[in-house]
Amino acid sequence: MKIILLGAPGAGKGSQAVKISAEYGLPHIATGDVFRANIAKGTELGKYAQTFIDKGELVPDDVVVKIVADRIKQPDCKNGFLLDGFPRTIAQAQALDQLTEIDLVINIDVRFELIVARISGRRMCECGQTYHISTYDKDTCAKCGKPLYQRKDDTEETVKNRLEVYQKQTAPLIEYYKKKGILVDVDGNRTVQATFDDIKELLK
Ligand code: AP5
Repeated sequence: MKIILLGAPGAGKGSQAVKISAEYGLPHIATGDVFRANIAKGTELGKYAQTFIDKGELVPDDVVVKIVADRIKQPDCKNGFLLDGFPRTIAQAQALDQLTEIDLVINIDVRFELIVARISGRRMCECGQTYHISTYDKDTCAKCGKPLYQRKDDTEETVKNRLEVYQKQTAPLIEYYKKKGILVDVDGNRTVQATFDDIKELLK
């Protein structure tokens, strides 16, 4: 299975990806995580990407496409993978079409009013686990014990711009994949588990 998780910032792509990946053993490829890991390590790629991420802008297509192209060539992706946060522009989707054939695009649909509350209450762990302050009030990760932190691009101003960028550059992908007949909408306005149950039904 080669799957894309599509959705606005804060729609719950990462939360669902962790569950799907655990349930089906699919490698979880999240371009945002790749950039954050590089920022944390202080690499040249990280420094470059940070100039875009901190403003809520997209990292240029050629840089992102190269990362994904290299990653999906790895042996663990032979039987499938789960893309989270890629593609994000029509140009990225077209580049992906040249690389491989996607089986399914899951579009997590969430009302914009919910998104700001979700993002501003998000807490992250280095290990990839994501929490929300409304359902988890500890300062350390339940999985690995490391301290939780808030993403730098989760400020109100940056979130506003991320949502505008999503509307302009990423939302057109819904039509792009609908035309190909491989897009399915999932109602992401409910709990993480209820959304995941729908996805599992779909993947049956
Ligand atoms: P990226 O890391 O991909 O961020 P994003 O798409 O903005 O998405 P988020 O990670 O904010 O949200 P999510 O949908 O994963 O939601 P989550 O599950 O965490 O990208 C960051 C930046 O990197 C971009 O802005 C860009 O600059 C750059 N970049 C990345 N990919 C790129 C690309 N392809 N091209 C160019 N640039 C790129 O959930 C959010 C919160 O809500 C959490 O607290 C969670 O616990 C909670 N939550 C989730 N689901 C539910 C639910 N159902 N009910 C209640 N709470 C929920």
